[in-house]
Amino acid sequence: MAASGLRKFAEKFDDELKFFKGWIDRPRAVGSIIPTSSVTARLMASIIDAKSGLPVLEVGPGTGVITKAILRRGVKPSDLYAVEYSHDFVKHLRRNYPDVNVIEGDGFNLDMTLGEKRDLVFDCVVSGVPLLNFPVARRVAYLESLLRRIPSGRPVVQLTYGPKSPIPPGLGDYTVEHFHFIIRNIPPTQLWLYRRAPLN
Ligand SMILES: C[S@@+](CC[C@H](N)C(=O)[O-])C[C@H]1O[C@@H](n2cnc3c(N)ncnc32)[C@H](O)[C@@H]1O
Repeated sequence: MAASGLRKFAEKFDDELKFFKGWIDRPRAVGSIIPTSSVTARLMASIIDAKSGLPVLEVGPGTGVITKAILRRGVKPSDLYAVEYSHDFVKHLRRNYPDVNVIEGDGFNLDMTLGEKRDLVFDCVVSGVPLLNFPVARRVAYLESLLRRIPSGRPVVQLTYGPKSPIPPGLGDYTVEHFHFIIRNIPPTQLWLYRRAPLN
């Protein structure tokens, strides 16, 4: 393997080790033992309208696999806000993505976490938070706080390992749409889209 290939391999392995360590420290918050595959990350980033001129919100970036796909989609680093709970992941993200707005804090309390940026309008939200580890009422409140920050009709994309939408339909003012099932992910992953329900 050439030196650059070896370096890439070592970097990837380093991400996986960091992720695994995060999972050992806080299994419920991290939710998976290895990062999302690049296929899944690309599909999640595909919902972004990079020409909207609006920033993008990512919640639960972990080691940054999806962050990288969002930037590859054409979003400027300064237009990406990435909210991460784990201090270790935040340090890693700030090192690897110095121009992204990496914010350390709780994605379930975005008014507090975003601080003076709380009134920003985002194009869409990309969420990797392990929702199944939280009660349904908190999941719904989380979704509603995300939908309040994006224009009507724009989506929140959420990754999950369960067979059903982690946010059940019918519990609030939102629509639920199945987006993708990705077998090439460990574990296999489902992607769901949520939008504000149209006014009648
Ligand atoms: C399943 S991992 C996904 C990581 C990454 N997006 C990926 O796909 O590889 C979940 C991530 O959400 C973060 N997380 C969990 N609860 C959170 C919260 N309340 N606010 C922000 N981030 C949170 C975890 O620290 C972890 O980085």
